[in-house]
Amino acid sequence: MTVGDQPLSKIVILISGSGSNLQSFIDACSTGIVDGKIMAVISNRPGVKGLDRASAADIPNIVIDHRAFQSREEFDQHLAEVITSFTPDLVVLAGFMRILTDGFVNQFIGKLINIHPSLLPAYPGLNTHQRAIEAGDSTAGATVHFVTSELDGGPAILQAAVPILPKDTAVDLAARVLIVEHEIYPVVAQWYCQGRVVMDQGKVFHDGAAVGESGLLFSSESEH
Ligand code: GRF
Repeated sequence: MTVGDQPLSKIVILISGSGSNLQSFIDACSTGIVDGKIMAVISNRPGVKGLDRASAADIPNIVIDHRAFQSREEFDQHLAEVITSFTPDLVVLAGFMRILTDGFVNQFIGKLINIHPSLLPAYPGLNTHQRAIEAGDSTAGATVHFVTSELDGGPAILQAAVPILPKDTAVDLAARVLIVEHEIYPVVAQWYCQGRVVMDQGKVFHDGAAVGESGLLFSSESEH
């Protein structure tokens, strides 16, 4: 489990559904695009497709059903214990549809990242594609960001933009955005694994340089 003489970064991925972003991590780790090993996949929902994707890749997968807990705090505490047992370097939210408590977030601050299907700070929260279409926007996209206690408000690392076409439905747009999600999330993961992106005092640094508020903009050069 090494790359050169460096150990692979240990990654834990949290999901709630289809896990297409999880799949992009599985593929990127197996082809060496990301110098990481996925130690575990954890879902708060049983029976979701992402769990099958993990099984197919021989990755330990665990269901922690939030409905079995009395409170958000108890769920988060148990979730944190399970994650910590894998001693991860990086914790990845990949379509994990739970709001996390401050206690949880603070435990993993600086090593917890999320992908959100909008060009943050536009459209935090749900139904991003429908909201962008209704607003008459011509551009949508996705943002990878460090997670802080502010919902979808942590500092942005990398964004990718896609056009909104005149007849787009939210489903059309979601599909177009997902394609770039699958490109940019592994790029950020690799930067993280190589120590090229860090969060310090709430700000993002890439190769030592401070990143602006909306993050870097993805282009094919961003990969290098
Ligand atoms: C993605 O659009 C992601 O940005 C959002 O939830 C969706 C998850 O999709 N947070 P998948 O489960 O990775 O296919």
